[in-house]
Amino acid sequence: MAALSKQTIRDLDVRGRQVLVRVDFNVPMKAGSIADDTRIRAAVPTIEALRHAGARVVLMSHLGRPDGKVVDALRLAPIAAHLADLIGVPVAAVPDCIGSAARAAVKGLHDGDVCLLENVRFHAGEEANEPGFVAELAALGDVFVNDAFGTAHRAHASTEGVGHLLPAVAGLLMEREIGIMGTALADPARPFVAVVGGKKVSDKIGVLRNLIGRADHILIGGAMANTFLQAQGHAMGASYVEGSAVSTAAEILDAASQAGTRLELPSDLVIAPRLEVDAPAMIVGVDAIPADQMALDIGPDSVSRYGAVLREAGTVIWNGPMGVFEVAPFAAGTTGIARAVAECAGTTIVGGGDSVAALEATGLADRITHVSTGGGASLEFLEGKVLPGVAVLRDRH
Ligand code: 3PG
Repeated sequence: MAALSKQTIRDLDVRGRQVLVRVDFNVPMKAGSIADDTRIRAAVPTIEALRHAGARVVLMSHLGRPDGKVVDALRLAPIAAHLADLIGVPVAAVPDCIGSAARAAVKGLHDGDVCLLENVRFHAGEEANEPGFVAELAALGDVFVNDAFGTAHRAHASTEGVGHLLPAVAGLLMEREIGIMGTALADPARPFVAVVGGKKVSDKIGVLRNLIGRADHILIGGAMANTFLQAQGHAMGASYVEGSAVSTAAEILDAASQAGTRLELPSDLVIAPRLEVDAPAMIVGVDAIPADQMALDIGPDSVSRYGAVLREAGTVIWNGPMGVFEVAPFAAGTTGIARAVAECAGTTIVGGGDSVAALEATGLADRITHVSTGGGASLEFLEGKVLPGVAVLRDRH
């Protein structure tokens, strides 16, 4: 598998042209304000590069899941205002993404100007990738730039459809996301270590299957480790175990050992009778979980074993927390792994909504080579799937 190579905005002369740019401004909002602007800041290099090259920049994004209807709380005007602050020039918030308002706004742009179309998911045609809607969007641009890695797993009008009607290239964020993660999968510096956590084996099965045979080590944590431990015959007490995935976990263990990938499980766990901040937590070996206690984090011995592997890695990919990190007594496993990943001198990549939140909580995000802006998209990328919003972009020859 070779890393993907797509044309980018550097391959285009955009001076005086209308450049229709799909960004992922699907950011968390709290009472009408932006709670985390990471995704907006991540799109700024592309927007700035296009402006400075003399493009007329027409941005489009979704926010939330309004299901084809106008939802006032999901309007993009606050995001346009925030972007204007970040880039220091006005960003017009266009009241619709198609129709006469959109056409007039785009027509009024001068070279270097920026506007943001209204939430594309206010129209049902967006998610349906409906040809009429695609054509209306495409009429607003001379070229299409996809910088929305976080939405590239959706074959929607603004992420995929318009790419069939306009010359389509990657933005700088998209280039970085697929470049770093693609190289990690195709040609990793070794040892290549994957840390996979989270609740369910079934959510990560595609990632595990794709990593077996590629990774040198896969370190398992989170509640999904319980399912693997049960598959090995350990009694998990009152822990969450995904009953329907125990046999799959056994198959994964077999496949890893046949492929020469060392799939490692926790040796100790933090247990408690209930998931509460004041519950009496204890550290036990994986063979000593009482019937009325549940595993809620990996223990210190596991952190130290995993940490030793991570510090020596040439490439690390981390997806999914090691325990219930949101509740203090069960955060140490995830924090310890974050520290070890931050101390690794190799290429380190963290993807997936929960793992990124866990990393941000540790304050170590700036010591990671690449923190992906994609949740579902990075998971599908790591599964080895072709993302429609990437496939539609021009290949580099
Ligand atoms: C995300 O936040 O993962 C992307 O913006 C995609 O959003 P969606 O899951 O609503 O398609």
